[in-house]
Amino acid sequence: MIKSVSKIVIAILFSFLFIFCGNKTDLKNSSTTNNRIEQKVDSVLALMTLEEKIGQLNQYTSDWTATGPITINPNKQEEIKNGLIGSMLNVLGTTYTRKYQELAMQSRLKIPLLFGLDVIHGYKTTFPIPLAEAASWDMEAIGLSARIAATEASASGIHWTFAPMADIGRDPRWGRVMEGAGEDTYLGSKIAYARVKGFQGNLGDVNSVMACAKHFAAYGAAIGGRDYNSVDMSERMLWETYLPPFKAALDAGAATFMNSFNDLNGIPATGNKYLQRDILKGKWNFQGFVVSDWGSIGEMVKHGYAKDNKEAALQAITAGSDMDMESNCYRNNLVQLVKENKVPIALVDEAVKRILYKKFELGLFNNPFKFCNPEREQYELNNPEHTKAARDIAKKSVVLLKNQNNLLPLSKEIKTIAFIGPMVKPKRANHGFWAINLKDVDSSYIVSQWDGLQNKVGKNTKLLYAKGCDIDGEDTNGFSEAVKIAKQADVVILSIGEGWNMSGEAKSRSNIHFSGVQEDLVKVIQATGKPVVVLINAGRPLIFNWTADNVPAIIYTWWLGSEAGNAIADVLFGDYNPSGKLPMSFPREIGQIPIYYNYFNTGRPADNETNTNYVSAYIDLKNSPKFPFGYGLSYTTFKYSDLKVSKKQMTDKETIEVTANITNTGKVSGEEVVQFYLRDKVGSVVRPIKELKDFQKIALKVGESKTVTFIIDKEKLSFYNQKAERITELGEFEIMIGASSADIRLTDYFELID
Ligand code: NOJ
Repeated sequence: MIKSVSKIVIAILFSFLFIFCGNKTDLKNSSTTNNRIEQKVDSVLALMTLEEKIGQLNQYTSDWTATGPITINPNKQEEIKNGLIGSMLNVLGTTYTRKYQELAMQSRLKIPLLFGLDVIHGYKTTFPIPLAEAASWDMEAIGLSARIAATEASASGIHWTFAPMADIGRDPRWGRVMEGAGEDTYLGSKIAYARVKGFQGNLGDVNSVMACAKHFAAYGAAIGGRDYNSVDMSERMLWETYLPPFKAALDAGAATFMNSFNDLNGIPATGNKYLQRDILKGKWNFQGFVVSDWGSIGEMVKHGYAKDNKEAALQAITAGSDMDMESNCYRNNLVQLVKENKVPIALVDEAVKRILYKKFELGLFNNPFKFCNPEREQYELNNPEHTKAARDIAKKSVVLLKNQNNLLPLSKEIKTIAFIGPMVKPKRANHGFWAINLKDVDSSYIVSQWDGLQNKVGKNTKLLYAKGCDIDGEDTNGFSEAVKIAKQADVVILSIGEGWNMSGEAKSRSNIHFSGVQEDLVKVIQATGKPVVVLINAGRPLIFNWTADNVPAIIYTWWLGSEAGNAIADVLFGDYNPSGKLPMSFPREIGQIPIYYNYFNTGRPADNETNTNYVSAYIDLKNSPKFPFGYGLSYTTFKYSDLKVSKKQMTDKETIEVTANITNTGKVSGEEVVQFYLRDKVGSVVRPIKELKDFQKIALKVGESKTVTFIIDKEKLSFYNQKAERITELGEFEIMIGASSADIRLTDYFELID
């Protein structure tokens, strides 16, 4: 039966409860189920030829689309019939998945195919890009977006999404920061957990898809922010900053992991035994399977790590990569490698078993066409409840960066509004990168920003439009028309930023200032003297100092998805009071990158941003970001008061309770993300100047106060030393509670004692 969204939310909450409150009987039942599946897996394995086993490790893209450099193989359909392919990606829709599954049913053992797809921020209903959703700091909303994406994708024949991306992103030049949760490990871990839960629900239900935590590991730290580039980092950094979101995804039950393109300290992640066997499948006891990234097994030859594809296949399977996405290295070499005794058959069997297990768990052996119901597809892909949720989540993802003299929210009585810019009319732009823009799916249902504004204002408001300029290029011919309509208006809204394909995979940029002549357009419009609101659409933090310093109101809209236009209008006119907070620091200049709030103090900290003499500073720029991590304004104001710390000393077996009062001191209801940071004052390795350890998003009516409570326990105080051991050290800690990483309102201290 098809569930409504509210039922879905209840189902998620229920499954969370189930996980946390599961009693011994549940555990016993689940281990019986596991044993039963294992027996079935073994019985299938016993029937398989070596070629069929290796077929299960082989994944191809569909014939009509590619999300990477395509390999030509005209025999795919024949190979499926011969049981030589275990999974396909980029095959979607009930018609096509059925067609391919029927081919698999012609194979000797009728082992069903797995269909994987990059369902990154929605399927047909498009949600805000993941970085934008991270700005909501709202785990329920993020979980719901993943749940709906899973509901739609599974209704369209998909079994498996290549999400969430759990990579930490501290470098906005890297185009893939749009796909992650930003710079912070704690926030990133919470979000990875929520997304996996949302995608997977109760795995095996017809509404659920397998999640894939990617890219394992450290892909986000590509040198210079250049995609696919090398990564060089200490063990301490790896464990402290980059691995925890993956562990959180695993704790949430992530069925699969994807390895990554980068080398880590000289070893490509795909051939990296330490990452995949020692950590993931060893120390963390991961029971699912690992898929390579697109072609990444074969790319080990170009890395200079393998002399040819055969050696690459040997390295990858030995290191723990179970499935080969699109490199053909397993398909072309593993049989021979086994026959030559270079790859023990046990290694192949282990990989096959992991994959078959998931096929059983999804129920595909019982019914290979379980996800191929066109009526369900038709219903779910046009479900108005999903659209409603998309609008709600989009509103929550918006960040209000500036609002001088309370220019916003706008009155609905305004006579004339000039809506200017290259992002006003297009629909596709709101989709962002990784939209499912393959066959049969279009952008026609997306609410453009123009349509959103029109839907919002009454008949008495006149809307004027001018494009002004393109996103890129030098053409300023449109400026005069833009200035003309600005002069006729009571207020100007300017929508600029990045095109949908300027952030994303392979979309690194060396220059993240506004592109083309967009900032010049801002200048000429601002010069009209009219009140100006700038909407910035982007997949990453951009640099826009002139705009930030001169324009009275700025909203960072990111790419908000299907309901972008309506959500933006809701925020502009105060039907929703913005509550988003930045999940990444916004630099003043490219030279500050990488930039993040939880840095080390150094031996010569630049206490005063104007004194650069013999301190760790730039002589031409402040160290601080333009907009810090955790920052975001509201149409109301919040007072933080009454910090109480239950005791000033604790042992690592005890806890401390910290409470504070938050009051809405403004004129409208609003939501605040109260952020809880700690600083470990002295450590055997240097500790960051502050670290986010908890947060709460609370809603407050005008004049209302609420008490927020944070619990300090051993987990919040421990860290990784240089040997990657997690330790806790005695000593003093600073408590900081604030509205952003740079706006700490309340502080206190406590001591960890023996
Ligand atoms: C390459 C990307 O790195 C990965 O994230 C994606 O899932 C695959 N291509 C498949 O499209």
